[in-house]
Amino acid sequence: MSVVEAPAALPPLQALRRAACLPPADFRLAMRRLAGAVCIVATTDGQRPTGLTATAVTALSAEPARLLTCINLNGSTFRGITESRRMSVNLLATHHADLAGRFGGAGPGTGELFETALWDTLTTGAPILRDALVAFDCVVDEMMVAHSHAVIIGEIKAVQLHPGRHAPLLYADGRYTTLHPQGNPNP
Ligand SMILES: Cc1cc2nc3c(=O)[nH]c(=O)nc-3n(C[C@H](O)[C@H](O)[C@H](O)COP(=O)(O)O)c2cc1C
Repeated sequence: MSVVEAPAALPPLQALRRAACLPPADFRLAMRRLAGAVCIVATTDGQRPTGLTATAVTALSAEPARLLTCINLNGSTFRGITESRRMSVNLLATHHADLAGRFGGAGPGTGELFETALWDTLTTGAPILRDALVAFDCVVDEMMVAHSHAVIIGEIKAVQLHPGRHAPLLYADGRYTTLHPQGNPNP
């Protein structure tokens, strides 16, 4: 068993807070190693849908059923969610790589982008991708602004599970990829 020796004294918190944080380029380089499941987060005002590709999505709690996502404040999707207070989180499969590319592009994720796939609604009216691996239909419960992004907590009102067994679309090392069964430590 290896034992990590404790330092004589911890650096004071105030000094740590004042110290510069990681530069953006180093942050991006390091985060390339954080493999993420690729989702489309979408909303609508009833007329015009908006949505974007997002990997900053995580489960939060089972009771109540909640998830969270982190969305850039400068985009049309954030503005849409702020107004409608509802959103869907659609988990993508490998055959959705092109769709992920389109919704993750530089342009706003509005209008005709949605015409390149089939969408339904469940409970809230937010756009639900028909062949998503799973789609969560949420009402926004809380929103916390943190610098450039907002942490948005969604309470899950309905879910759509795809009956097929498609492999999930992942984003790692700056590219789309998936799980490789031969690399599974618990086959
Ligand atoms: C793989 C991938 C993951 C992304 N993850 C996020 C994310 O978690 N949150 C976010 O705000 N933007 C994320 N983006 C960027 C948005 O998808 C992109 O900026 C989009 O065009 C913004 O659309 P909007 O203007 O409608 O908000 C990601 C892009 C890619 C390609």
